Amino acid sequence: MNTPEDKTNIALLGFMGSGKTTAGKRLARRLHRQFLDTDRMIEELLGLTVREIFRKYGEARFRGEEALLISKMAAATRHAVIATGGGVVLNPQNIENLKRSSWLILLDPPLELLLKRLTGKKNRPLLSTGPDPATTAARLLVQRQPLYRAAAEIVIPVEAGENADDTVAKIIHQLQMRGIIYADNHHR
Ligand code: S3P
Repeated sequence: MNTPEDKTNIALLGFMGSGKTTAGKRLARRLHRQFLDTDRMIEELLGLTVREIFRKYGEARFRGEEALLISKMAAATRHAVIATGGGVVLNPQNIENLKRSSWLILLDPPLELLLKRLTGKKNRPLLSTGPDPATTAARLLVQRQPLYRAAAEIVIPVEAGENADDTVAKIIHQLQMRGIIYADNHHR
């Protein structure tokens, strides 16, 4: 069982292209914390890329691995910065597990910025499922936006023209304001 004191991780939520991995790495460096990326961990576990996992075993298998990993992290991972996959919110159990050990931070860029960042990227299997990636992304975002908002404890708007350091500064500011980390970046 987790206690409130176990809520020591910072987990980044958001749609594909919202900057979870880039901002997460920098945030971890700034806070002197370990950085973990659930997609990369699943890839290492299976020895395949996310794209290959989807192709070989299907989305359901990927979601199963993702859910298992997140429940293990809730039990064992502390004081880390975690970048989650964009579909993590599809399973309410994932959110429940994440919340037991992590503060959930949503990176929230507008659709136009997401589309710009996702253009030409070949590593997102879900975006190759519809007529074209932009239409699929827009449809998925409309479906998921309510889930991201319901799950997030802190929402960070990400604007066009801001870089990862700007996003990280906003995250740190919010964490300090809420007393989750102290001004010197040491955590509770
Ligand atoms: C997915 C997002 C991806 C990855 C997988 C499924 C999704 O992660 O987990 O391709 O359903 O949105 P990123 O958000 O890191 O691209």
